[in-house]
Amino acid sequence: MKTSLRLPPQYLLACPQCGADADSGLQLQEQRCEQCSQEFFDIAGMPCWFSVGKAQLTLWQSLYGLALQQAERNFALAEQELPLYDLPPRARVRMQQMQQANRQIINDVKQLMDSVGLEAKIAPEFANYDASRMLQYFELLLRDWAWDEAVSPLDNENKRELKRVRQAVEKVAAPLGHTLIMGAGAARLSWEIHCELNPSSTLALDTNPVLISAAHRLVALQNPWQLTEVHPNPQINHEPVHRWTLVAKANEEKLPTWFALAANAWSPPIKSGSIDTIVTPWFIDVNGKEIRTLIAQVQKLLKPGGLWINTGPLLYGTDISPTRRYTTEEIRELTELAGFEFCYENVEISPYLKTPLSAQLRTEQVWTFAARAPQPNQPLPKSNPPAWILLPHLPIPTLNIPPPNDPTLQHLLSLVDGKRSINDIANLIASNLDKDQNALHLVQAVFVEYLLGP
Ligand SMILES: C[S@@+](CC[C@H](N)C(=O)[O-])C[C@H]1O[C@@H](n2cnc3c(N)ncnc32)[C@H](O)[C@@H]1O
Repeated sequence: MKTSLRLPPQYLLACPQCGADADSGLQLQEQRCEQCSQEFFDIAGMPCWFSVGKAQLTLWQSLYGLALQQAERNFALAEQELPLYDLPPRARVRMQQMQQANRQIINDVKQLMDSVGLEAKIAPEFANYDASRMLQYFELLLRDWAWDEAVSPLDNENKRELKRVRQAVEKVAAPLGHTLIMGAGAARLSWEIHCELNPSSTLALDTNPVLISAAHRLVALQNPWQLTEVHPNPQINHEPVHRWTLVAKANEEKLPTWFALAANAWSPPIKSGSIDTIVTPWFIDVNGKEIRTLIAQVQKLLKPGGLWINTGPLLYGTDISPTRRYTTEEIRELTELAGFEFCYENVEISPYLKTPLSAQLRTEQVWTFAARAPQPNQPLPKSNPPAWILLPHLPIPTLNIPPPNDPTLQHLLSLVDGKRSINDIANLIASNLDKDQNALHLVQAVFVEYLLGP
């Protein structure tokens, strides 16, 4: 039986490709956009709305197929060690138990994917993709939905994370309204926020098909799932294998307004200026883009005066260059430059991914802040270089400079109308440039070197 589609409130939704809303061509129940002809899909009733449409399904099926192939290869490699003549008997028994557990993990993942209807099917165009992307952050499933009782029902990582967000919310003392969790992962925090902090609706958004499918199954479908954990290294007085039951606390009153949404935070199916609160938990450093782009995206999606709550460390991905690994001070400065008002900050050392199967303890420095988005036409703080250069999503004010002789400059200047940003102008001229030219860098360079230069 097909599970019914669980769509967030329609006034929050927009086409992730062209931005059309329900009044301008977005067909919600049909999951397609008449304005740009893009088609979306759902898995087990969870909307999977990407700007690339159903090509995302092909990618996911391929990644899943590749991940299974890789898991089978690893399994077979370990299996080759079992007949070794010099294996001590105890080690052989241990290895057999490990192999049983590894087989169980493969079956557990298949069970999850089957239950939401995602097939393993490698498309030729994705045959060389790296499957590990799909299983990245796998432990979050166990941290979010399994370990609490074994760690401590009263003091565990999930409780601490909620406490950090709760403190920020209490400090700003305003209703959360429609709340978007960007990079929600396995989505426990989103469910806790929804049940405890009373938003009007909560949208848990993530691109990872395993994490967000599990979240949808556990919370929306209230269907527990069993997952085996194996600890690869011996730990004294700790069992090496455990089969966990992942389960989300039921809350029938709150469930109708919580939604798992498979989508990309950079092109989400969400109307600009419609969200009251955005939470970015353990996300600002690992989303594939630099922080200025995130500030722009948060500002675009929030209502004027909307709230941005961030929590997590600054452990940038390898794709972020050293110059863009901004410090907390630099991020605060950039956010304030965009017109946000910082209302709360807290730094705390917290355990991270501490499994009951291990004595090891990893800790992280968690920075939590709350900031209010600016009102329209709010004057921006003065800075040098100006805010609209440092943050290319901000409107360029009309510039009082003598008309230049250079035709390129003349053209770029003619595009400045007090509303357009450097990003907007770069988009306008991009189609006239050669493929290897970066429109954004070019426009920035022109404005900095020629207009603001000595
Ligand atoms: C470090 S994990 C944190 C997950 C969760 N917030 C938590 O605290 O457990 C980062 C998450 O961001 C997600 N993510 C990264 N880039 C994304 C993007 N562009 N759009 C949506 N989700 C993204 C990843 O799939 C992953 O689940």
